[in-house]
Amino acid sequence: MIPLSTLTVAAVLCAANAVNAVNVFAHFMAQNSYSYSQSDWANDMTTAKNIGIDGFALNIAANDYEISPQLGYAFAAAEQADFKLFYSFDMSYSWDAPTIAGIIANYSTSSAAFRYGSDNNLLVSTYSGENNGDSFYSGLKSTLSGQGINITLAPAFTSYRDPSQADSLMSTFPSIDGFFNWWSWPADVNANLTTDTDTAYQAAVKSRGGPYIMAVSPWQFKNLDSGGDWVEYSDTLWDYRWQQALQVQPDIIEIVTWNDYAESHYIGDINPNVDLGTQAPLYVDGFVHAAWRDVAQYYISWFKSGNQPTTEEVVYWYRPYPKGVTCSTGSLPRNSDFPADAVFAMAMLSSEATLTLSIGSQQTNWSAPAGLSMGYVPFPTEDAQVPYFEVSRSGSKVFDGYGSLSVNQTGCSYYNFNPIVGKVPN
Ligand SMILES: *[C@@H]1O[C@H](CO)[C@@H](O)[C@H](O)[C@H]1NC(C)=O
Ligand SMILES: *[C@@H]1O[C@H](CO)[C@@H](O)[C@H](O)[C@H]1NC(C)=O
Ligand SMILES: *[C@@H]1O[C@H](CO)[C@@H](O)[C@H](O)[C@H]1NC(C)=O
Ligand SMILES: *[C@@H]1O[C@H](CO)[C@@H](O)[C@H](O)[C@H]1NC(C)=O
Ligand SMILES: *[C@@H]1O[C@H](CO)[C@@H](O)[C@H](O)[C@H]1NC(C)=O
Repeated sequence: MIPLSTLTVAAVLCAANAVNAVNVFAHFMAQNSYSYSQSDWANDMTTAKNIGIDGFALNIAANDYEISPQLGYAFAAAEQADFKLFYSFDMSYSWDAPTIAGIIANYSTSSAAFRYGSDNNLLVSTYSGENNGDSFYSGLKSTLSGQGINITLAPAFTSYRDPSQADSLMSTFPSIDGFFNWWSWPADVNANLTTDTDTAYQAAVKSRGGPYIMAVSPWQFKNLDSGGDWVEYSDTLWDYRWQQALQVQPDIIEIVTWNDYAESHYIGDINPNVDLGTQAPLYVDGFVHAAWRDVAQYYISWFKSGNQPTTEEVVYWYRPYPKGVTCSTGSLPRNSDFPADAVFAMAMLSSEATLTLSIGSQQTNWSAPAGLSMGYVPFPTEDAQVPYFEVSRSGSKVFDGYGSLSVNQTGCSYYNFNPIVGKVPN
């Protein structure tokens, strides 16, 4: 068995041996807050704050209910929770600059409005928006500064992904102060993501004084037919992308996402009142991701304190069906041959131990060091098998437990590449 990431973890340990002033935010889809009361916001904020997240980047589409009442609830809850908020305007919707300026101005004096850097400007981000052109953003900034509100603009212009385009981004957009690299999954390739995009754009924006915001995401799978059917290779992403963040040392880490259920990268709980339409519930309902927050908490604590935590826990994730199974409805997502048919487990240990993973006739062991390591066991050919995880030292079991869902070979009713996530002890 291969301890997948033991070597990289050891290297990272030295690099991160200092207290880091990084802020960690989670990308929050305000579109999904339609049914929210203020207490729903408060619950999400408490859950996020408990694992070290400083605030939410509010992905605002142009819906009336997001602007009122939801932003009012969000800021009221954040003020009470001592939690921070900044806007990530979703520019794939149609916006005009006066509307954006009005929204920014409305809560600009809130204690929950996140301010960045020595200028103490309000941080404003986007999802996409490069097609609006620089004049849109220079106009927005001057409108606001005319009202005594200075902003630091760090957009996610998503067509800028190629490292060689970083200089062109800067010359095309003199108004931007920072940059948010949205791309936290491999780009339709059966290979791991590298930090090439991160380091190129981080270097390019340095002279502008705004933040380099690095996205960290656990997964990417969507099966909405006209809304997109794809999976990106994410098997060990939730481990190695955090390690990449420790190496890149961005100014802000943005977890993508808290609650984008349809793309399967939510780390928040599934709120049963959120209307996910007709297709997303077929692969989201029951597919709890809560234990991914334990991994985030581990890395955030390590990142902020410089000290590696000493927890004793195994977090696992796996898809419910092998990729070759034919399902009765839905469609096979693009890149469906990329994910490995396997149960993945991440050990967070205070001292060396033996990890045993088994499912059906498959079993594998690895010698896990103190700290983090990852391993996997391939799916068996038998139907309806539940994985088993055991941590032992000197031949004696320390703790063990079972996965919360079986891996099936038959009876698939919808193509689902969203993993179930859990932990042992649970
Ligand atoms: C400002 O906030 C109030 C209270 O939530 C809301 O009613 C109003 O629509 C908001 N105005 C703008 C321009 O966002
Ligand atoms: C906004 O920025 C300008 C130019 O840097 C500065 O003169 C002004 O004091 C700032 N205003 C506030 C309210 O910080
Ligand atoms: C991705 O990285 C992991 C180690 O983190 C490695 O085991 C795996 O083989 C890599 N995947 C590919 C497709 O290269
Ligand atoms: C894994 O470890 C268990 C318990 O320590 C042992 O019984 C089993 O034979 C090992 N399996 C393999 C494949 O090494
Ligand atoms: C897998 O099979 C088991 C046993 O038949 C069943 O209880 C379970 O609901 C099935 N899981 C899925 C996701 O269909």
